[in-house]
Amino acid sequence: MDVVDAIRKRRAVRRYTDRPIPEGVLDRILRMALAAPTGSGAQAWGLTVVREPELRRQIAELVIAGGGRYFAIMRPRAEGATDEEHVAWGREYAEQILGSYRQVPVWVLGTLVPRDNYPASMREGGHLDDVISVAFAMENLFLVARAEGIGSVPTTAFQRFEKDRLREILGMPPEVDPVILTPLGYPEAFPEGRPPALKRTFRRWQTLVHDERWGNTRAPTG
Ligand SMILES: Cc1cc2nc3c(=O)[nH]c(=O)nc-3n(C[C@H](O)[C@H](O)[C@H](O)COP(=O)(O)O)c2cc1C
Repeated sequence: MDVVDAIRKRRAVRRYTDRPIPEGVLDRILRMALAAPTGSGAQAWGLTVVREPELRRQIAELVIAGGGRYFAIMRPRAEGATDEEHVAWGREYAEQILGSYRQVPVWVLGTLVPRDNYPASMREGGHLDDVISVAFAMENLFLVARAEGIGSVPTTAFQRFEKDRLREILGMPPEVDPVILTPLGYPEAFPEGRPPALKRTFRRWQTLVHDERWGNTRAPTG
């Protein structure tokens, strides 16, 4: 699969089988992730690869629980539902959507690992560059995984709720910042296109491209 195809066909995958990923394939994905551009050549990143069943289980539970809280905050409440009922709905919905996370063979966590290589006057911008670099590495990972027929989904909802717990599970020191987590596994099927609700509101690319100067978009923004 060429890179354009991998970009087109990558989708957020939330239903997985338990089929194992061969070590050689996983190595290729990890190496290509870390071939991404890195601000100031700092390599202020790390990838934590989790295959141990007990650790995988703990991460899956954390993400499913985080998903439940996310849905309860972000999705509208059913008419007449109490706080408790809405929270319970969030939990059940996360279970329904993300339950197969319990069987993915691998989790990868992209982390920011400060290298203390910026002078004080550059620290803020340097930090942003480091975060951007981790995101680039993860996008490489998503695309190479897709080319190998392996699904992934950038997952950050856990951060808002469970960052410290994740650090604890993985024995991570406090200065290491978990940024993006993803399951890696063979999907039941890759989703074809985006879900209808998202499709309806997704902006067309032409509305996001400004030729020469701001505001001169290729199609009216709606
Ligand atoms: C920064 C970022 C954070 C995301 N966090 C989550 C997340 O916590 N859980 C999740 O299921 N999907 C998450 N996603 C996936 C998006 O929901 C998904 O990319 C979007 O709906 C578009 O679908 P597509 O990836 O299939 O194009 C995240 C994506 C990005 C870029």
